Amino acid sequence: PDEPLVLGIETSCDETGVGVVRGRTLLADAIASSVDEHARFGGVVPEIASRAHLEAMIPTIDRALAEAGVRPRDLDGVAVTAGPGLAGALLVGVTAAKAYAYALGKPVYGVNHLASHICVDQLEHGELPEPTMALLVSGGHSSLLLAPDITTDVRPLGSTIDDAAGEAFDKVARVLQLGFPGGPVIDRYAREGDPAAIAFPRGLSGPRDAPYDFSFSGLKTAVARWVEAARAEGERVPVADVAASFQEAVTDVLTRKAVRACRDEGVDHLMIGGGVAANSRLRAMAEKRCAEAGITLRVPRPKLCTDNGAMVAALGAEMVARGRSASDWGLPADSSLPV
Ligand code: KG4
Ligand code: ZN
Repeated sequence: PDEPLVLGIETSCDETGVGVVRGRTLLADAIASSVDEHARFGGVVPEIASRAHLEAMIPTIDRALAEAGVRPRDLDGVAVTAGPGLAGALLVGVTAAKAYAYALGKPVYGVNHLASHICVDQLEHGELPEPTMALLVSGGHSSLLLAPDITTDVRPLGSTIDDAAGEAFDKVARVLQLGFPGGPVIDRYAREGDPAAIAFPRGLSGPRDAPYDFSFSGLKTAVARWVEAARAEGERVPVADVAASFQEAVTDVLTRKAVRACRDEGVDHLMIGGGVAANSRLRAMAEKRCAEAGITLRVPRPKLCTDNGAMVAALGAEMVARGRSASDWGLPADSSLPV
């Protein structure tokens, strides 16, 4: 009853997400996606995303409130993704959240997108132990983060120096002519393929490389060259084997570095979030390696891994519960907001 009731708004990329949570309980998770409108461009077009957020915002808020069965006046606050993300897309969410909160006489809480990707796991598995290690892998980011306090202290240990993991999936899917977004379809093809068929490179895995940074652009190029060479020879491209071998290279590096970070930092909990956390091979490999290393693995269900409003509400509720101060009405959208 005295757990905070918070509405969360997420518009950092192509999903308009509005969630409602009470404490660590998910009450509603409404989403409107413009992904189909971007498909023919092979990636998210910022202008299209902003316009879609504008159109979807009010209906999605209404849907979330109805689904949760709560009245706006009972909310303890409105949380919103303040960054990082696409500037115009973020601006729609931040403006809507401030206007809505102001009209209701409620506080507004600007939250960091990456921290909310971590915090969402509380809706699935209960209170997050602190510190938690987090591997966030999506179309926009690939980072290892250490979170001693999810509301105030999230430290980046490393991130990709070029493409994000999801971006690599999308680009390889394009090379294989499998459509967009590429992650789910590569995941599906890979099940029929041999992950050891082709030895693709593991970026930044040498002894002198940064231990927690990632690089996927060399891998993407290696896959493209391999496929082009096969086509030039007039051979049929073994799509399942290429997909499985590529996926193996990505998930091998991600899980190896995540487990190493846990060991180095003395952390025995790893959470994996972001759209790529839906990947079946990543989940299986992480389970195996965490079990071997004595690390408890927490991966939310796929719908909570991809961008959504519930994750923003989850972090907002945690801020209210811990008495963190609200943002002021000048809260800006910050496309490169650091954690
Ligand atoms: O978190 P998300 O919905 O949006 C952001 O990028 O923030 O992540 C989308 C990304 C896309 O690149 C998509 O290809 C990838 O997540 N993805 C996957 C899978 N499902 C989605 N990648 C690998 N395997 C999957 N099953
Ligand atoms: Zn995200």
